Amino acid sequence: MRLDHSPLHQELKAHALDIQSKPMREMFRDDPNRFANFSVQGPHIFLDYSKNLINQNTLSLLNKAAENAQLHEQIKTLFNGGKFEGRLLNHTENRSVLHTALRQPVDSSLILDGKNIIEDVKQCREKMAGFLQKIHTKQILGFTNKPLRTLVSIGIGGSFLGPKVVTEALKPYAQEGYNCHYLANIDGTDLAEILQKIDPETTLFLLQSKSFSTLETLENAKEVKAWLLQSGVSEAQIRQHFIAVTANNSAAIEFGIDEDHIFPMWDWVGGRYSLWSAIGLPIAFVLGMNNFEALLSGAHEMDQHFLNTDFDQNLPVMMALLGVWYQTYFDADSHAILPYDQYLQYFPDHLQQLDMESNGKHVDRDGKDLGYHSGPVIWGGVGCNGQHAYHQLLHQGTRLIPSDFIIPLQSHHDIGAHHKHLFANCLSQSQALMQGKNLQEATDELLAAGMDQAKAAQLAPHKVIKGNRPSNTLVLEKTTPESIGALIALYEHKVFVQSVLWNINAFDQWGVELGKSLSSNLYQALEGSDSNHQFDASTEGLLNKFKQADC
Ligand code: F6P
Repeated sequence: MRLDHSPLHQELKAHALDIQSKPMREMFRDDPNRFANFSVQGPHIFLDYSKNLINQNTLSLLNKAAENAQLHEQIKTLFNGGKFEGRLLNHTENRSVLHTALRQPVDSSLILDGKNIIEDVKQCREKMAGFLQKIHTKQILGFTNKPLRTLVSIGIGGSFLGPKVVTEALKPYAQEGYNCHYLANIDGTDLAEILQKIDPETTLFLLQSKSFSTLETLENAKEVKAWLLQSGVSEAQIRQHFIAVTANNSAAIEFGIDEDHIFPMWDWVGGRYSLWSAIGLPIAFVLGMNNFEALLSGAHEMDQHFLNTDFDQNLPVMMALLGVWYQTYFDADSHAILPYDQYLQYFPDHLQQLDMESNGKHVDRDGKDLGYHSGPVIWGGVGCNGQHAYHQLLHQGTRLIPSDFIIPLQSHHDIGAHHKHLFANCLSQSQALMQGKNLQEATDELLAAGMDQAKAAQLAPHKVIKGNRPSNTLVLEKTTPESIGALIALYEHKVFVQSVLWNINAFDQWGVELGKSLSSNLYQALEGSDSNHQFDASTEGLLNKFKQADC
């Protein structure tokens, strides 16, 4: 039964009203075991969720909602690629969902349509390892016989964000002398800036596109080819500098890529879940195959935890239930991701695609309008920088914005007192969000500083911080390939569980299609090849501005 059609929905609504009346700081005062009761250790990650607007009753109601949605059965379906209630998880694209198979041990098996797909995964991994071995041992060289030490990964969306977040997160593990640039945007600036930094003789270009039909990627690839030709590479030598990952072999071959240098993608892997496949080649190129495999094993540990752990100890489930709690019952329209680790600076970007492309939906699995909010706006950035910018709104704005603080216990750079300060700052933020500062405290503080009563009464309301703002704190031992694998898999599963509770398909993305098709008409209008098309007045006016400026 859909969440809003069940009596539980009314119970959760009433409970949400009730729990807001009790300050969280009192919940901590009344229960000395609150931290122990509302925290859990998972693979590589400790989750403290005690600073949330919850009590045991909240969790039991949310657990009931999970049971009503048959979460257990749906999790099993996520791992076997089968059907739930007669339909594939991605029924609107008629595709199985099996990105978890990419991190399964390669000696295991998983049969899909009569075929052991783990065998395909294994072969792909061997092909990646063999190719990279040839690059690293200089058996494959550039057109002037120099080693290929720079990779430019050309791709967008899931063919970009996942590898990028990981290569940055694991920079300390990079192999000396190898580096990678990511070219995603159709904005020529992206291309121009990268071309300035690279040497055609030592650069390998990787075309990353599941469909091999994405405009940005194909246009960038075309211009890169032209640049190589201008740089002295002959038509025949171009092949030495291009490889591809795609599910569309024929288009890649037509582009001029050797069949041997095409790595597979499968229908059962969505773009935003693809970093674990050959789309992860930039990760393996920069960090080495051993670190790529360690990343996969960390993700697999999280998979096993998700599949086999009771819901009350299950990290992805707990985080998802809390997410549903705030989006659906507190009208929280955004969720902040606040990594206190410079290497995790791109993590919010990856989660934006993962979460918003998955759960940014307005109809349920049957195509009926939802009677509640689905996925939130995901945003964020590295601490402490945000503290001197948008945290003001987190503390004193009118909106309730749940936040995830993410911090490792150990830094890769133990410089002076930096890491202790970083850790202290991270805790200070979640503490301030939770406890706030009431009017009496604000007034007392001003009086103690010597202010007279009248002035203190005027100023104090501006210093009040309401508190009761929820947050999770995720603590990693250190950013390692295993912990980063576990962290990304944790959020993938969190997003899935939320989709189950909201009864939506988290694996399609029809919303991005309309803009794509409109943009092709608009491009033709700019080119002058389609002058008959009628646009609205605003679009027409803006087109004319561009045409008038066009030189
Ligand atoms: O436009 C959205 C999208 O389809 C994403 O889901 C996907 O990750 C991205 O475009 C890139 O697609 P492709 O790998 O086919 O180029």
